[in-house]
Amino acid sequence: VIVPVLLSGGSGTRLWPLSRETHPKQFQPLVGEKSLLQATWERLDGLAGLAPPIVVANEEHRFMVAEQLRRVGAVPSAIVLEPVGRNTAPAIAVAALQARAGGDDPLLLVLPSDHVIADPEGFRVAVQAACDAGTQGALVTFGIVPTGPETGYGYIKAATPEGHAVSVGGTSVPKAFGTEVPPTKVGVMPVEAFVEKPDKATAEAYVASGDYFWNSGMFLFRASTYLAELEKQAPAILAAARESLAKAQRDVDFLRLDREAFEACPGDSIDYAVMEKTDKAAVLPIDLGWNDVGSWSALWEIADQDPDGNAHHGDVMALDCRNTLAWGGRRLVTLLGLDDVIVVDTDDALLVAARDQVQQVKDIVARLKAEG
Ligand code: GDD
Ligand code: MG
Repeated sequence: VIVPVLLSGGSGTRLWPLSRETHPKQFQPLVGEKSLLQATWERLDGLAGLAPPIVVANEEHRFMVAEQLRRVGAVPSAIVLEPVGRNTAPAIAVAALQARAGGDDPLLLVLPSDHVIADPEGFRVAVQAACDAGTQGALVTFGIVPTGPETGYGYIKAATPEGHAVSVGGTSVPKAFGTEVPPTKVGVMPVEAFVEKPDKATAEAYVASGDYFWNSGMFLFRASTYLAELEKQAPAILAAARESLAKAQRDVDFLRLDREAFEACPGDSIDYAVMEKTDKAAVLPIDLGWNDVGSWSALWEIADQDPDGNAHHGDVMALDCRNTLAWGGRRLVTLLGLDDVIVVDTDDALLVAARDQVQQVKDIVARLKAEG
């Protein structure tokens, strides 16, 4: 069996002002009619061995999570509620402990709830292809061939069983990892190095070397494998997760983690806490139109564009513009003579940004928060 773990606790600040603390991006229909969370579940439809998911979310979002999942027919075995966000390492820990509660040791398929995958069928094939390695005790990641020196991702260097790095650069990419060759044919490879969010210069060197994949942020492993690695690499996180789950309160459909115990948990991501340090990491390359919708320019990239590269949402008119994204709200939005600009209109806030600065939108949010 494969138990999906849907992580839905982030606040997606780089998609401000559409994504808010009370209504983060995973609950919004950014692409198509379903929300990203709903699409994450529906993508699994047809996966062999699929068990009910475990959902880990912030308690503030509990009704939105429950209602959205109900609408797409997902019946979680548990909706675990965090009183505060402590990042992904603890969230996955409580899911793994919950999965092990009945004595089972299923494969967990850890899924961020805010990604887009153009080829869901191919994704299910890839998950199946990762199962053997996961069953045998690997922490399997799904690697993406990088398209630029993004600093918001983890970078993975793969090694062949003989210890040689696998080149993913230059023209060998489409041949080795392209859509004509299913990921099953490339196969799972051991990881030589995992580096979370390197600085720009390091990312540039990694991309130029052709030896690195991006970490897609999706993982497949046995619950016991993750817990054992966490015990080794970050025992305080495991202990706090264990205590908060042991003292959790059942509340109708929800499992409320104990506030005191969970607040005391150190905050860290799985990437820093486990994946950078473990020697059990493996990577399966995928080329399935993955996009983490991490910023307005990421959304612009996957949106339908006119021949001049302009993408519109809602009531929008753009004249003499190139490579713009205009996201309308309740009123008409018009753009005139602009290149590489992002405009996002909502009821109470308007964003106008240079397209190559959109990673810094989170700085606006931080500033607003600081200034109350
Ligand atoms: N339940 C819960 N609690 N979920 C959380 C929490 C939390 O405290 N924090 C984040 N999440 C969820 C987010 O909603 C998202 O779906 C997922 O976990 C990943 O968190 P992000 O905050 O989006 O991580 P990231 O984008 O900075 O980095 C990760 O993803 C990249 C690819 O998108 C890393 O795994 C990188 O290595 C990776 O390249
Ligand atoms: Mg992310």
